[in-house]
Amino acid sequence: MLRPEDNEILCRVGPGTPMGELFRRFWLPAFMPHELAEPDGEPVRFRLLGEDLVAFRDTNGRLGVLDEYCPHRRAPMSFGRNEECGLRCVYHGWKFDVDGNCVDMPNERPETDFKHKVRIKTYSAAEWGGYIWVYMGPAEKKPPLPRFEWATLPPAHRWQRKWHYNANYMQGLEGELDTCHTTFLHRVDDAAPLSEGLKEAVSNWGKDGMPKLDVRDTDYGYYYGSQRDMGDGQYNWRLTQWILPSNSIIPQPRFPISSRAYIPIDDENTYVFGTSYNPEAPMTQTDVDYLESGMGAAPALIPGTFTPEINRTNDYQRDYAAKRRGHASGVPGINNQDRALVEMMGTIADRSQEHLGTSDIAVIAARRRLLQMAKDLANGKEPDLPQHAAAFGVRAIDVKTADTAMDAVVERYRDKLRFG
Ligand code: FES
Ligand SMILES: [Fe+2]
Repeated sequence: MLRPEDNEILCRVGPGTPMGELFRRFWLPAFMPHELAEPDGEPVRFRLLGEDLVAFRDTNGRLGVLDEYCPHRRAPMSFGRNEECGLRCVYHGWKFDVDGNCVDMPNERPETDFKHKVRIKTYSAAEWGGYIWVYMGPAEKKPPLPRFEWATLPPAHRWQRKWHYNANYMQGLEGELDTCHTTFLHRVDDAAPLSEGLKEAVSNWGKDGMPKLDVRDTDYGYYYGSQRDMGDGQYNWRLTQWILPSNSIIPQPRFPISSRAYIPIDDENTYVFGTSYNPEAPMTQTDVDYLESGMGAAPALIPGTFTPEINRTNDYQRDYAAKRRGHASGVPGINNQDRALVEMMGTIADRSQEHLGTSDIAVIAARRRLLQMAKDLANGKEPDLPQHAAAFGVRAIDVKTADTAMDAVVERYRDKLRFG
């Protein structure tokens, strides 16, 4: 369980909140590149960390992120005209460039010189690794872009998708850091479509529902290992990465593996940025077809939106006949199953009502670390990680070995776990 006051610190991300400030020390993925492809294209209204913002690409191709509310009388800048290197508010014509300067104020006489006294709030944006990222922290603390392994790979090695989660970011993240549920929630029936990698994983998970867990704190977050007894003298070890503040890398016995970032839109809504990638080879058509089907690491989306097709409004398409056949939840698709359970906890779970066991140690460790870092920052202690771009470059592994200690597994696979 978590005390209600700590749950508040953990989940609230708006301006001025401790966790919101911690997130504001990191670059955060915010858009797929196609959303802001066109110079002078339509501006895009969005919310990030509880702030209403607008993004646009100006005439010269520069990305701009501005306050959604015009500093004149708070009209929506997303209704604005994106033209000639700036976004012009359609209410009275004030125009701002990507740096926040007011470059035109056509309703004021020039002698007032008012335009030089007004700025609009701006944040930095940059394209990297298949996403457009936004940095919302103090300008003097702006870090380099994080060198996640997948971001450094050629685009053909990865497949990426963004989707909406109707819950607080932490619930989604906790699902990633909870290998124990895989044995139970992801038990499927023979009719369920699985990739080759997932077939192997599901079979491993099914053999041992009481994995031993071991967590090791690192400069970037932690890795934790789960040891499952395969019954033949071998253990299935899965080493999952948690990278601050809210990124996971989930291993699979075969590539592609999946990285997901849980990015708070506000306290009760999240965008997930899912990257499936193969560090060693381009994705195959079979990989891509499976990912596109929405049955694996990411959901299928309602066309033209970031809303999963399988969602709360259709009861996650739960199939009772499949349940009778032995499918655990009846919800089609591995990631849909995760999201269904997390969203149905309510948008902010009441963690004071929980009863945590030994299978929850990774979840507990992540909460503790985030709470400590948020409190530290509120007391003036800055996080180190954002400035160390190479520290983000780690990989998760899923292997079978006779080793019974995580350190031995780490030693054996050291060259596969860290990059950059
Ligand atoms: S409210 Fe934007 S110019 Fe007046
Ligand atoms: Fe899961």
